Amino acid sequence: MTQFENKGLLPPHAPVMEEAILMASRRIGSWEILLNRRPLSSADLANRYDAVSGRWERMAGRFQLEAAYQEPLLSSQIATVLGQVGPQALVLDCGVGSGSLSIALDSILMDRVTFHGIDTSAKMLVQARSKMHAAGLRAHCRQADVLSLPYDDQSFDVVMAAHVLEHLPDPKRALREMVRVLKPGGVVFVCVTRPSLFGALIQLKWRTWAVTEKQGVSWLRDCQLADVGCQPVHLGSCAGVASTAFWALRPK
Ligand SMILES: C[S@@+](CC[C@H](N)C(=O)[O-])C[C@H]1O[C@@H](n2cnc3c(N)ncnc32)[C@H](O)[C@@H]1O
Repeated sequence: MTQFENKGLLPPHAPVMEEAILMASRRIGSWEILLNRRPLSSADLANRYDAVSGRWERMAGRFQLEAAYQEPLLSSQIATVLGQVGPQALVLDCGVGSGSLSIALDSILMDRVTFHGIDTSAKMLVQARSKMHAAGLRAHCRQADVLSLPYDDQSFDVVMAAHVLEHLPDPKRALREMVRVLKPGGVVFVCVTRPSLFGALIQLKWRTWAVTEKQGVSWLRDCQLADVGCQPVHLGSCAGVASTAFWALRPK
């Protein structure tokens, strides 16, 4: 597991409030000053992603998202778990966007599996359907919120999300919902923006969290998951090591 230093510029605390994102905190004697930012509402976020959906593919290309996701996906236990399940394996991609994470996973698997993608943005789903089908994936996409997934408990062998949880005021709630629909023995895989200069720009533009490795690992452990791993994610262009991927197994 790779650890990054928090140089004191970034919030040391995990999210504690339902409706605000902690951007900075400072202790002065017996005082603790917290600077919180209100996140975008689900509806506003969906509207904003609708608005950028036409440009998202170019953005995904510039940051080489598919190649960037391949490395941590290979390091995780996903290929082994899906290989054991075989062609009937089911994968859920939460906040599927234009499908980069699913396409990256498909490219490292020996067998075909079935992908389900959900997103709150209807226009991103149009991009996802077109790109995933063009890449030859067996994929079903529908509009839904990661906070309330329209699936039964223990439905999927892999449940994953890239650059989604940091948008939410309470990312742990989304993670718990992802684990609810994960089968015992299945893998949860999450990629989030980490503290960095690029991460700070994303935070300003999108009102997101920059999630430290320590926070991400503790969120997975709080969900009673096992074999927790994490790895920095190198994005293309000038973004650098702007994200981290986390994964863990749901014990049988
Ligand atoms: C930064 S994009 C990432 C897209 C894709 N996962 C990727 O890595 O290219 C975030 C996506 O999450 C979606 N999203 C945001 N909040 C969501 C929520 N509560 N439930 C489901 N999707 C959400 C957005 O509409 C957008 O498509």
